[in-house]
Amino acid sequence: MKHTTLAGLLLAVSGFALAAPPAADAARGKQIADTVCAACHGADGNTNIAMYPRLSGQHPAYSIQQTLAIKAGQRNTGAAVTMRPLVENLSEQDIANVAAYFYRQIPKSGETNPKENPELGARLFRGGIASRGIPACMSCHGPGGAGIPGNTTQQESTVAYPRLAGQHKSYIVDQLRAYQSGLRGNTIMGDIAKRMSNEEMDAVGNFIQGLH
Ligand code: HEC
Ligand code: HEC
Repeated sequence: MKHTTLAGLLLAVSGFALAAPPAADAARGKQIADTVCAACHGADGNTNIAMYPRLSGQHPAYSIQQTLAIKAGQRNTGAAVTMRPLVENLSEQDIANVAAYFYRQIPKSGETNPKENPELGARLFRGGIASRGIPACMSCHGPGGAGIPGNTTQQESTVAYPRLAGQHKSYIVDQLRAYQSGLRGNTIMGDIAKRMSNEEMDAVGNFIQGLH
């Protein structure tokens, strides 16, 4: 619980110092979501197709950052390349609008399979494995996996910790592998994933899928 308090405090402090986010228009965002994103991510961001991440409830700062990275060809994980041409012509304002729309959609979670090591997954998520330098996932992603918003302005980038709760297990595992191999570049997650075994990735993915 110590970590949660610290994260909450950091959030409160940074929330104070930061400028107001740019006005995002979720209604315009919905039009883009319906016409461009729905086929893969679902109209409400709750796709059941495991290769496409759920976007509902995701923090706008994180969604914007990732959409821009995919648009720029800087994120090449999974089938990101299929999304690229579809976002190539979107402006930053469009991207902010659609991120605001998905953020407002009520997230739906999957289920944790009781036969796939949920205890190990829960232990990792809540406590990490101190002896191997694996931190508790919840210290950054929140006790319920809701993440931490970060800053939605483009000028300053306060790290957004993405929402993980309810995300597809196979997507979570694929991302952990990509961080481990360096295909998806991120210092924080790279360090963590390099310390994890395949069994641990599967277990924590299974746990996260049912988290809500
Ligand atoms: C053709 C299918 C497709 C379409 C259409 C599509 N995406 Fe994606 N999107 C993907 C795939 C595949 C990934 C995950 C890539 C990976 O596995 O790393 C992704 C990832 C993302 C992510 C990162 C999510 C995360 O948790 O890191 C965001 C944000 C995103 N898409 C937003 C959008 C938006 C906004 C639109 C509409 C403007 C859109 N996508 C349209 C296929 C698509
Ligand atoms: C010190 C903070 C921190 C800790 C602890 C942490 N993460 Fe992360 N995590 C992040 C950040 C920051 C990102 C966004 C990285 C990026 O931009 O690619 C992230 C991204 C992710 C993603 C990609 C999400 C998506 O939608 O694509 C997954 C999966 C993930 N973390 C799983 C975990 C798991 C599992 C653990 C525990 C074993 C964990 N994280 C612990 C900070 C953390």
